[in-house]
Amino acid sequence: MRVIVCLDYNEMSMVGARFVSSQLTLKPDSVLGLATGLTPVGMYNILSDMNKKGEIDFSKVKSFNLDEYYKIAPDNEQSYHYFMEKNLFSKVNIKRENTHILDGLSENPEEECERFDKLIQEKGGIDLQILGIGRNGHIGFNEPDKELYSNTHLTPLTQSTIEANSVFFESEDEMPKSALTMGMSSILKSKRIIIMANGESKKDAVARLLSGKISTDLPASLLNIHPDVILICDKAAYSSVNNK
Ligand code: GLP
Repeated sequence: MRVIVCLDYNEMSMVGARFVSSQLTLKPDSVLGLATGLTPVGMYNILSDMNKKGEIDFSKVKSFNLDEYYKIAPDNEQSYHYFMEKNLFSKVNIKRENTHILDGLSENPEEECERFDKLIQEKGGIDLQILGIGRNGHIGFNEPDKELYSNTHLTPLTQSTIEANSVFFESEDEMPKSALTMGMSSILKSKRIIIMANGESKKDAVARLLSGKISTDLPASLLNIHPDVILICDKAAYSSVNNK
């Protein structure tokens, strides 16, 4: 894993945006794997500005999002459909028919997950996957457990994630307690992966990610077996590395 430690969140967002922009220059019809959460918002803003200035083009880009709450309607302000529309899709020239997000209202989640994995492969697989990391080391919604799922699947959320993410909902009761998420192999099949982390709250997860050990207790640690992963973090998120 290559590690890039940035001064702060702005620099981190800029570095992330440069990787995405180089990817689109080299392959304008790239398949991007996209993440939600606060971490990539700065990078999405920079990409939107670059797109406005004509420096990058999303017209041929295809995208697949990592996850979606279950059950949630796409027009719910806390859905990842809504998030992507607000933070990226409405601001760049990506074609909506080329964007793919799991259906958080699907009556048949198993079928929906299978359809999603198949579609990723039909489009040639993900060229560049963007990831954030949960405080407990989750990626997508692959939560720490004795066993992890390989394919896209429906999963219950852990209490730690419910607590971390319920601040965005009116109350904890409003927050869905399950989600649809790409599985570990769906993520690891990506040709290149960028994982981003900022702030003190991520320092333990980052230190464990770089500890050299692989464990399903820290789903992100499985990224260590992938040949092309870049961790972009700020100083605060990196501050516990070597202390663990
Ligand atoms: C959520 C998402 C993840 C995201 C993580 C971190 O639970 N499912 O994909 O990476 O939380 O979120 P944040 O970037 O807000 O810290």
